[in-house]
Amino acid sequence: MSTTISTPHLQTRHTLPDGTRHASVELLNARLADAIMVGLQAKQAHWNVRGPRFLPLHELFDSVAEHAREWADLMAERAGALGGVVDGTPASVIERSDLPTYPTELIDADGHIERMAEVLASFSRRLLGSIEAAGEAGDPATEDVFTEVARAVDQDFWFVEAHTQG
Ligand SMILES: [Fe+2]
Repeated sequence: MSTTISTPHLQTRHTLPDGTRHASVELLNARLADAIMVGLQAKQAHWNVRGPRFLPLHELFDSVAEHAREWADLMAERAGALGGVVDGTPASVIERSDLPTYPTELIDADGHIERMAEVLASFSRRLLGSIEAAGEAGDPATEDVFTEVARAVDQDFWFVEAHTQG
């Protein structure tokens, strides 16, 4: 489920207006929750995929999980730079992220590929919304962070979805 949670803010000499910083921190914490979810789901796929294409898929899903850790760090540290409190606890992640949940019964490669492609597409769509919202809030640097993450997410989306095409 997705809700708006208010996080505390620290005193800072950062020159962006408070309203802008607070809006950005909320967006960053929401997309951080999504990145943590994507990382957990990619590990779920990494551990459980089976079939003749086991090894390349096992490695592909692990690389998505590794990238998701980098995306999480990038967004979390931008929230910190804006004087925000980073909210990456499991309870907050569940509360903030509304990405589709990952089925526990999946075994076959096609099922995992489809689910990971859907999850990455959903994450990409949410990032596009956050790029726009950060721009409207007047924070181009946060917009740039989301853009960097979105570009990388789209590349992993391509690597996963390509298995279902052609
Ligand atoms: Fe592993």
